Amino acid sequence: MATAPRVSRNSRRQGRPAPELIFGDLWPYDPAPESADPKLKTRYDLFIDGAFVPAKSGRTFETINPGNEKKLADVALADAADVDRAFQAARRAQESVWSKLPGRERGKYLYRIARLLQDRAREFAVAETLNGGKPIKEARDFDVPMAAAHFFYHAGWADKLAFAFPGASVSPVGVVGQVIPWNFPLLMLAWKIAPALAAGNCVVLKPAETTPLTALKFAEILQEAELPAGVVNIVAGAGETGAAVVSHPLAAKVAFTGSTEVGKIIQRQLAGSGKKLTLELGGKAANVVFDDAPLEQAVEGVVNGIFFNQGHVCCAGSRLLVQETIADALVAKLKLRLRSLRVGDPLDKNTDVGAINSKAQLEKIRELVASGVKEGAELYESPCRLPAKGFYFRPTLFTQVSMSHRIAREEIFGPVLSVLTFRTVEEAVEKANNTAYGLSAGVWTEKGSRILKLAGELKAGVVWANTFNKFDPTSPFGGYKESGFGREGGRQGLADYVNLS
Ligand code: NAI
Ligand code: MG
Repeated sequence: MATAPRVSRNSRRQGRPAPELIFGDLWPYDPAPESADPKLKTRYDLFIDGAFVPAKSGRTFETINPGNEKKLADVALADAADVDRAFQAARRAQESVWSKLPGRERGKYLYRIARLLQDRAREFAVAETLNGGKPIKEARDFDVPMAAAHFFYHAGWADKLAFAFPGASVSPVGVVGQVIPWNFPLLMLAWKIAPALAAGNCVVLKPAETTPLTALKFAEILQEAELPAGVVNIVAGAGETGAAVVSHPLAAKVAFTGSTEVGKIIQRQLAGSGKKLTLELGGKAANVVFDDAPLEQAVEGVVNGIFFNQGHVCCAGSRLLVQETIADALVAKLKLRLRSLRVGDPLDKNTDVGAINSKAQLEKIRELVASGVKEGAELYESPCRLPAKGFYFRPTLFTQVSMSHRIAREEIFGPVLSVLTFRTVEEAVEKANNTAYGLSAGVWTEKGSRILKLAGELKAGVVWANTFNKFDPTSPFGGYKESGFGREGGRQGLADYVNLS
């Protein structure tokens, strides 16, 4: 299907001087939608005590596909009474079954869950993409396999807790309340549930209000795995339901991933309660590129760092710090690369950047981008065409950014990169650390000694060197400062789910 290169409508609208060739026009792709059946039901109930049950109030809410704004299903809305039912079921399971099972038996359930998730990987990937807007290639190649990997990894720990914490006597904390966000719905569920179960705890988990479907489909897997009733309970709803989960008196531990704003509310609520708490909150990561870095690789790393999952990533490399001598060259390459990113139907296998998760998030991104323009930064956006329906935002980068701009300080959580420059290593470290957050950072340089120096000096839970956004269940992940506390993954993550004496 060859067509002549055209001038994009957008470039004309934006009054660019010369006709510009748009990659998508130069090399048109035929649509390549993923065809696997997500096996979605039109209605989902809460999962309590091993069974799907309607909310006591009978209330439901709609969940949509942000890629086209069409309704996908009605979902039961849990209130405090439903959350209480879930905690009572979890306590019964904790006392009568789960705490009595030897670790190797718990491990068998975790292996079974991991394998069932693998068996249904394509189905889950399509469901995740439909409900959340992320490109199918990411749901397929990252979210679902990584979720399964977390269950496999923690299955291995279930009968080896004594070796994870040598010399200590290890016991479960009890029932845990978990609240997760919408950016990696199934993966965040796995990060929360797998270590909890491996360590012998029972769970009440609340998925985010815009993305409840893969959590409720996961409940089907728990039934298939014949996990004892009450060990995992899933209650859908929004902030009020979340508040009921974190404040429930039976929650011996609370694990939360989401906004710093809500994290602070939860920390205040739980102060003095004696409950264990881990918070994984926002970020404003610096991706630091030195003049000796391999530029083409750095471009790919910077693009992956900020456009992966539409930038809805707490550890996204949203601030590019580039050494002044190569700034123009790197920015020119980045602009070219932005133009070749394919934005559109999340279900299309060629899509690089899918839909923004919700209208509210799209509005937040637009507001922050408008502030960047107003405060004097220079905007560049990909001239790509956007679908007429659904929530989409063009891959965007800002130059002429200064540290005082909102776009350099606040989490945008969208496909927007702020570019800043530095001259010396010291200045790079100072600028990178000049943020309220401390979740992640990236360093691009040929020099090993510089990598080690920055890994020590950057105040971030994870520092990637010559790569970005790489994850592994064995590797602890978590933040400093307003990015939260506690770790997920690895032995360190497991430690937050046990009592040691
Ligand atoms: P949010 O923090 O309100 O939502 C995250 C989860 O917390 C959801 O399940 C929500 O229902 C629940 N929740 C809301 N209020 C609660 C409360 N008072 N008590 C207990 N649970 C509560 O995040 P939101 O509003 O969806 O996004 C706002 C911003 O937060 C984003 O633009 C982004 O900057 C940041 N964010 C960061 C995430 C991360 O991965 N660290 C994930 C999601 C959002
Ligand atoms: Mg909120």
